[in-house]
Amino acid sequence: MIKKNIHSVTAFAPATCANVAVGFDILGFAFHAVGDSVTLTRRNDNKIVIEKIDSTEKLPSEIERNTASVVIQKVCEDLRVNHGFSLHIHKKIPLSSGMGGSAASAVAALVAFNAFLESPLTAHQLAQYALLGEEVASGHQHADNIVPCIFGGFTLVQSASPIAVIKLPTPDVTCILVHPHLHVPTREARSVLAASISLKDYIKQSANLAAFISCLYSNDKAILKTSLTDILIEPQRAQFVPGFYAIKQAALEAGALGVSFSGSGPSIFAFADNEAEAANIANAMCDQLKLLNMNYDYWISSISDQAAHVTEIKQS
Ligand code: HSE
Repeated sequence: MIKKNIHSVTAFAPATCANVAVGFDILGFAFHAVGDSVTLTRRNDNKIVIEKIDSTEKLPSEIERNTASVVIQKVCEDLRVNHGFSLHIHKKIPLSSGMGGSAASAVAALVAFNAFLESPLTAHQLAQYALLGEEVASGHQHADNIVPCIFGGFTLVQSASPIAVIKLPTPDVTCILVHPHLHVPTREARSVLAASISLKDYIKQSANLAAFISCLYSNDKAILKTSLTDILIEPQRAQFVPGFYAIKQAALEAGALGVSFSGSGPSIFAFADNEAEAANIANAMCDQLKLLNMNYDYWISSISDQAAHVTEIKQS
């Protein structure tokens, strides 16, 4: 079942922006400018070992608490793989940044593992395993990061259990992703959310979600601009990022088509019509962060259809 001639496999998984303002827990897209890689090396014993984590931050190194190792342990158990693996995690996505880092590490490990199999698992099966990593990281199996990570492009999670995915058209926009250097664990950002919403708010948000999805098909940027408004989740999470509304306003004034938190934040995404506008919008957002004395990183990229993939295979 495991290919005998493979010694190690490295796979890359992109960062992802989940929610996309109007689709809490269901919409997401892949952002290739940054991502995590995992190298899996076959062992002679049957242990799962985290050999090395390249990161400037402290990541969990216990097998049961790390999203990459926990999913490999589970898939090896289920498939009764009688080889162990060493994991080398190259972590580039900042921790608790809202950029889908826990999903990317789990997905990169699973995609690398899949390359060892004589009969590889399907993308849906990989997604089901990656959900276990999300559970470990945030206490909840939300699929809106792992699905765009595994399938690439822009995705809609119709159901997380069982996984049902709809690939949406990728909008012709340039995306700016700004990461203020704050830690907002998803678990915490979910704990502040009200358990129910009013009928009035449901109508507004679902109208915006429907309008937004329609404009992915029509490429009508005027609709995109009026529909990317989150009245449900963003107001409850703005408290985690001092100056959030000033940063958002600056982006909109600089021409952004839409702005909101990436996933559970603190990172903020903005859509621009083209690369030149994206550079202006990024500057406007960063100027606000400077005024707030906050350190940050930012990336600019189009939305790629490329999914998580194998980058290197070493034969034994
Ligand atoms: N939909 C999830 C949330 C994404 O907003 O809590 C977490 O990145």
